[in-house]
Amino acid sequence: MQSGQIEQITADQASAEIARLRAVLDAANIAYHQNDAPDISDAEYDAQKRRLAALEARFPEFASAASPTAQVGAAPADGFGKITHAVPMLSLENAFAGEDVADFIARIRAFLSFDKELSFTAEPKIDGLSLSLRYEKGRLVSAATRGDGAVGENVTANVAHIGDIPQKLPPFAPDLVEVRGEVYMSHADFAALNARQTAAGEKTFANPRNAAAGSLRQLDAAITAARPLRFFAYAWGALSAPLADTQAGAIQKLADFGFVTNPLTKICHGLDDLLAHYAAIETQRADLGYDIDGVVYKVNDLALQGRLGFRATTPRWAIAHKFPAQLAWTHLLAIDIQVGRTGALSPVARLAPVTVGGVVVSNATLHNEDYIAGRDSRGALIREGRDLRVGDFVQVYRAGDVIPKINDVDLSRRPADAAPYIFAQICPECGSPAQREAGDSVRRCTGGLICPAQAVERLKHFVARGAFDIEGLGAKQIEMFFNDPILPIKTPADIFTLAQRDADNPLQKLKNRDGFGDVSTAKLFAAIEARRSIGLDRLIFALGIRHAGEVAGALLAYHYGTWPALMAALDAIPADPDLRAGHAAWVELTAIDGVGAVLANSLLETFKNPTERAAIDALVAHLHIQPPPARQTEGSPVAGKTVVFTGSLEKLSRAEAKAQAERLGAKVAGSVSAKTDILVAGPGAGSKLKEAEKHGVRVLDEDAWIALIAPS
Ligand code: IVH
Repeated sequence: MQSGQIEQITADQASAEIARLRAVLDAANIAYHQNDAPDISDAEYDAQKRRLAALEARFPEFASAASPTAQVGAAPADGFGKITHAVPMLSLENAFAGEDVADFIARIRAFLSFDKELSFTAEPKIDGLSLSLRYEKGRLVSAATRGDGAVGENVTANVAHIGDIPQKLPPFAPDLVEVRGEVYMSHADFAALNARQTAAGEKTFANPRNAAAGSLRQLDAAITAARPLRFFAYAWGALSAPLADTQAGAIQKLADFGFVTNPLTKICHGLDDLLAHYAAIETQRADLGYDIDGVVYKVNDLALQGRLGFRATTPRWAIAHKFPAQLAWTHLLAIDIQVGRTGALSPVARLAPVTVGGVVVSNATLHNEDYIAGRDSRGALIREGRDLRVGDFVQVYRAGDVIPKINDVDLSRRPADAAPYIFAQICPECGSPAQREAGDSVRRCTGGLICPAQAVERLKHFVARGAFDIEGLGAKQIEMFFNDPILPIKTPADIFTLAQRDADNPLQKLKNRDGFGDVSTAKLFAAIEARRSIGLDRLIFALGIRHAGEVAGALLAYHYGTWPALMAALDAIPADPDLRAGHAAWVELTAIDGVGAVLANSLLETFKNPTERAAIDALVAHLHIQPPPARQTEGSPVAGKTVVFTGSLEKLSRAEAKAQAERLGAKVAGSVSAKTDILVAGPGAGSKLKEAEKHGVRVLDEDAWIALIAPS
């Protein structure tokens, strides 16, 4: 409801309408970006936003940096050249409490079988955006944003005027150095920039991080030059010569090269020391003059960092210890149930809009029914057992970009008629029973593909980034086609018959519909056609099987190599879970490092279900499935070899030994057969050693193995 002509509106009316529009737009932003569930159309969103901008322009006294109109839209990414990072730019695992940090240290000790003193660096986690700077023969040749970690945007021209970034390095720097760090804006510069923006009638920025991102990612480098950006160096990528033996030594080198490094970086010895420095940094947080959102801990010894290596997207040798989240109180208006891709019934809190740390929040996750009832999945009390009811006054918290949560409830403000919340026992979307497995806190719809919510969520996942990633066929289009009477897409296979079905239908061609047309229809069909050829890893991930994410897709693809090999392995395993143990194909599947019984059972649950299997077979009939690209194992003496570890290892943990073997292109198996190439046997080896001798398999002790794989 809009209260008419902007020229005639009073300040009071404007103030009320501005508040309402901001709440609507913020809720829509959260629904779209955080929950992937847009609740208003793009056109409606744009209309409301234009109205809000017009009101704010007429009544500048109500302008606010937190307004949705002040959020910077991402610059057109297509406008920047792309740079492939020579070494991927990773992110960090998060710790939220001291115990998480203790776990982090324990995991490192176990992985390395290391019981001596472990030292770490601890430094502020800067809330900006990361940047990689490449210097060749001492000259800055390129600068790239993180992008998706593998490929970033070329912002070389934009960094030319950032004072903290040297254009040249001193002569003692190696020929090739990639320096990485964070671009940020100080509080003072941020406030001054927003004041200038307001004076010039330009939009203001919501926070220093948005301002830094919006300023760096400018197609017009002259605009970046006019913005006061700063840079802290804290890491590196490709190097032609090592910088030092330790993290702290390497950071000192970066300082010697002329970079600004963070003065709060400190070497800490063990958990207590780390937590003490965390507390010290937290006390200084408000006075630093720039935003930080935690403290990063990194193993100091670079040789140990090298041994620890990386998981899919994060190093094992570093962690970000985040500061506690921000809090606010508001009313819980309703609890809605959303049904996800794997059938999980997720309760969502609808809240009276409230500002939490500068962002208006009107939805929050409630996790599951136990969480609402005040228990965790093991029956232990949360919130001292206080349940949540519609009408309650609740505490909301949010940390960084994660979906807000409900933390607590004020029972003294509970309405007399508030009734305990009764969680649905049947799926609200399809009416199938919703069940809980023992030990699982999530209630799931048992409808599988007959549940429209699951079917449509799976299709959205199928076309998402990392999966089939079909241009022009996103979540919105999937919603539309799913309910389309003429050209329905109900299963993934339907995507690949779309063009033919449209061609066969004499009436109501897709190209004649609103929002389509000759060009966009041709483009869509071409994009689908292009994806008939798909990598095995992507295909596995795209199926949306519970527990089978991108990493699992890659592990299975590398292990089995082809779709028929994967199918043969799964078909060989008994459908009855009780008969699987000891079966060769089951042993092989669960021995893949990173697979395990939970994922294996979930895969089999899908592939042994006739409806699911029929849908998968129908899809595969349309595809050309590509084997995974060969791993970078040039010169590796164990590439392509099947290796089994047995007995106890003394220098390497089992996890490190396996990870290392796989990094060198070997296949690590759990049992010895005629196909095994090498058995690495430590003290205490038993039946596997006998089996190896029987098959004439090469047997090495731990030292011989280490000598074999040592770089020559
Ligand atoms: S180290 C391989 N150190 O946090 C790990 N990252 O959440 C490289 N960040 O993408 C990152 N301050 O943009 C590191 N002192 C710091 C940092 C820091 C901020 C950012 C960085 C990274 C993100 C991960």
